[in-house]
Amino acid sequence: MKINSALGNLAEWYEIALPILSHPEYQKRKLFRHHGDISVFDHCINVSKKSYYLAKRFNMDYKSATIAGLLHDFYETPWQDIKIDQPILKMHAFTHAENALINSQKYFKELLNPVIEDSILRHMYPLNKIKPKYKEGYLLTLVDKYVSLEIFKEPEVIIKTFGFMRSR
Ligand SMILES: [Fe+2]
Ligand SMILES: [Fe+2]
Repeated sequence: MKINSALGNLAEWYEIALPILSHPEYQKRKLFRHHGDISVFDHCINVSKKSYYLAKRFNMDYKSATIAGLLHDFYETPWQDIKIDQPILKMHAFTHAENALINSQKYFKELLNPVIEDSILRHMYPLNKIKPKYKEGYLLTLVDKYVSLEIFKEPEVIIKTFGFMRSR
């Protein structure tokens, strides 16, 4: 993405993100695998940075977009560790947004607001049928899907991801 510095900068993003990034519980997400070799920590940073720049560009609430990006996948348990016989991906896909909100309220209550909470809860729209209430929530669903699909540009990642799923 080409960045116009007048529309945001990394230092500002970092200042908003720092209380979350530096929290010991959030640091654990470095060990949660998202897809392929990408951790939940790196995935969320990627989503948050893109959300921040786009929110600035389109005059949205960029602070809320930054925080929602960081916390949208802040669920408690790595989906790979959930040992049940049902289709794991499907279950996780349907439940992790609510879990991420509950977990965010547990650790970062003072940083939340209705825009952030609704964006986290609804970020799996349209898979989860209820739409986001705010434009920042729509931004998050789009950026999250874009970032998640980006990994599939590399054939190696596709093999690793689906190879791993088969081996469970
Ligand atoms: Fe998610
Ligand atoms: Fe995500």
